[in-house]
Amino acid sequence: MVSSLKPRSSLDADSVRDAYRRWARMYDKVFGGVSAFGRRRAVAAVNALPGTRVLEVGVGTGLALPSYRSDKRITGIDLSEDMLALARERVKREGLRNVDELMVMDAEHTTFADNSFDIAVGMFVASVVPHPDLLLAELKRVVKPGGHILFVNHFLARGGLRLKVEKVMARASRALGWHPDFAIESLLPPEDMARATIVPVPPAGLFTLVTLPPEKTK
Ligand SMILES: C[S@@+](CC[C@H](N)C(=O)[O-])C[C@H]1O[C@@H](n2cnc3c(N)ncnc32)[C@H](O)[C@@H]1O
Repeated sequence: MVSSLKPRSSLDADSVRDAYRRWARMYDKVFGGVSAFGRRRAVAAVNALPGTRVLEVGVGTGLALPSYRSDKRITGIDLSEDMLALARERVKREGLRNVDELMVMDAEHTTFADNSFDIAVGMFVASVVPHPDLLLAELKRVVKPGGHILFVNHFLARGGLRLKVEKVMARASRALGWHPDFAIESLLPPEDMARATIVPVPPAGLFTLVTLPPEKTK
């Protein structure tokens, strides 16, 4: 069983920026491969949903950007200018005309008006942000009634060897730039856990795709 839902150490915004300044140039090579399947699943899910305006939070180097359907209009935000610079290069290189904006912005406190987007998606970012509860609240605010919120992420194992390994790895959270001991309950309160679709994705169910359907009538 999960002994504690709170990650042991937390990354503040400065340590996130520091970590991803160090990782930016290596990111695609080191993390791009292992996370590719989860990213593909998340974008396929976004592409299958109604609505065109998509907010991608923690867009990073923009690995997902080429996979969105051309009728989805993408706004990407990230805390790290170093990661975003690589995303901008990708957009230019690949001629991605459906990427409207790539901006330095904190996903926990955006400047978007209420109900600005049809869909919000965060890939491998929930275990990085300092306050996942604020992230979720912000995405609920900026997504329209009837819209969807998706996450793909690594979540702490429920038991076994993987749980032990992740607890040990968590000591290196600051250097890694994410929390290996991030439990799904740190992101989703019980009412959202109950209504979410939660699906393991390869490799070996290491990652999880979470889809939160519309919650409210505003
Ligand atoms: C593990 S990377 C994932 C990048 C990308 N989503 C992908 O699939 O490869 C996490 C990204 O989240 C960004 N990030 C962390 N905290 C953030 C925040 N509060 N607001 C916006 N971006 C944030 C980091 O700068 C980094 O680029």
